[in-house]
Amino acid sequence: MYYIGVDLGTSAVKLLLMEGNGKIVNVVSKEYPLYFPNPGWSEQKPEDWWSAVKEGLKLLTREFDKTKIAGISFGGQMHGLVILDKDDNVIRPAILWNDGRTQAETDYLNNEIGKDKLSKYTANIAFTGFTAPKILWVKNNEPENFAKIEKIMLPKDYIAYMLSGSFCTDVSDASGMLLFDVEHKRWSKEMIEICGIKESQLAKIYESYEVVGTLKSDVAKELGFSESVKVAAGAGDNAAAAIGTGTVGDARCNISLGTSGTIFISNKSFGVDKNNALHSFAHADGSYHLMGCMLSAASCNKWWMEDILQTTDFAKEQEPVTDEKLGNNHVYFLPYLMGERSPHNDANARGTFIGMTMDSSRADMYQAVLEGVAFAIRDSFEVAKSLGIDIQASKICGGGAKSPLWKKIFANVLNIRLDIIESEEGPGYGGAILAAVACGEYASVQEAADRLVKVVDTVEPDAEIAKRYEERYQKFRKVYPAVKGIFAEIQ
Ligand code: XUL
Repeated sequence: MYYIGVDLGTSAVKLLLMEGNGKIVNVVSKEYPLYFPNPGWSEQKPEDWWSAVKEGLKLLTREFDKTKIAGISFGGQMHGLVILDKDDNVIRPAILWNDGRTQAETDYLNNEIGKDKLSKYTANIAFTGFTAPKILWVKNNEPENFAKIEKIMLPKDYIAYMLSGSFCTDVSDASGMLLFDVEHKRWSKEMIEICGIKESQLAKIYESYEVVGTLKSDVAKELGFSESVKVAAGAGDNAAAAIGTGTVGDARCNISLGTSGTIFISNKSFGVDKNNALHSFAHADGSYHLMGCMLSAASCNKWWMEDILQTTDFAKEQEPVTDEKLGNNHVYFLPYLMGERSPHNDANARGTFIGMTMDSSRADMYQAVLEGVAFAIRDSFEVAKSLGIDIQASKICGGGAKSPLWKKIFANVLNIRLDIIESEEGPGYGGAILAAVACGEYASVQEAADRLVKVVDTVEPDAEIAKRYEERYQKFRKVYPAVKGIFAEIQ
């Protein structure tokens, strides 16, 4: 049988077709626009996602026996606010995970409701990208839209709804809404009241590997699929990526280098970071995880290459960054092009180069961009270490993981071994695995991950380079506090 994983990303949807034995037989991708209507705002049209998913599904399965498709599931960009009216029309464009417009609502939640209460209700505090502050923003700024809300959804749940008619979400994605009592896996009555909404506006909650329905007949007909194809709840993209990289079990780590950058630590039991720098969310295997999320990771690389240097020859630009240069750069880059989430929680933070001299080269600047992203992930890694979590190795996935140079930088900045798995399609592969588990092909997510995910290579840190990076990281971490005060002023 075939299982489809839909990775509903920020730049594109990537769809993956997997055989029951885990073999990936096809991957396609469809892009859609991303809108920045104001500095720091970030929106997409759910209708664009839906058209791209439908076109992608047709393309993905064109040359395969469609009667063998058993299930579909998802890894979806998290936190985005999708609102539908009573006729199921999308009320306004979705406000995405990297949108920073909700500083006032976030401050209200953290300071007036208070971090202790938020943490007690949801295991997390407010960040501008989370869903609850966005609901408050719509309430405060677009009351006419707020009044029309019938259903509140997350991005991938909109696709599940369009495919199956089931108004559903899963525990991992619900965790990022700040409306969900993560420990007990139920909606928080307190947060519902604080946001001025009703529980009936929120979806039914499932574990990620549970079936939520089957294809609607008109959709099945349009795609040429059977109506019996099962739709499984799926997961937020980071939890799905963790499944796709076999990050299941205690203290396993995955780094994802997509538009965002995350460090994901799986946990068999529920736990909260007392500093609230790391998110405490449910995992897609039925357990929990901690996660640090930076808002611009591979997107810094794309920005520097495509928008600034105006080239797409990544290999050529990376070539001058030899081993001798690693850790020897005097230029530093703060990668906060969309503000920053973990650990700074500062929507005003901005990208910053510092340390250039007359002999700084194009290659030094590029190296600083790649290093800045790795240093920012190290910031969250340090928080995890401070909680007593011992990370000796990590998986790595996402578009950024295609670069051997960047992987080497990460291994040395974090001074850990990176395990490279067969495919870097983390969320899509995780989505397909969740579909396979939901359809009974595997008894559990753990069993599927153990049997399907294979490490094919490792990147070990080099003692000399890691030492140089240690010194540089200690300097990097002084830059943000030194310039922090000015960010709000220069908006
Ligand atoms: C996680 C987060 C991002 C998005 C990217 O908290 O905001 O990783 O899920 O799609």
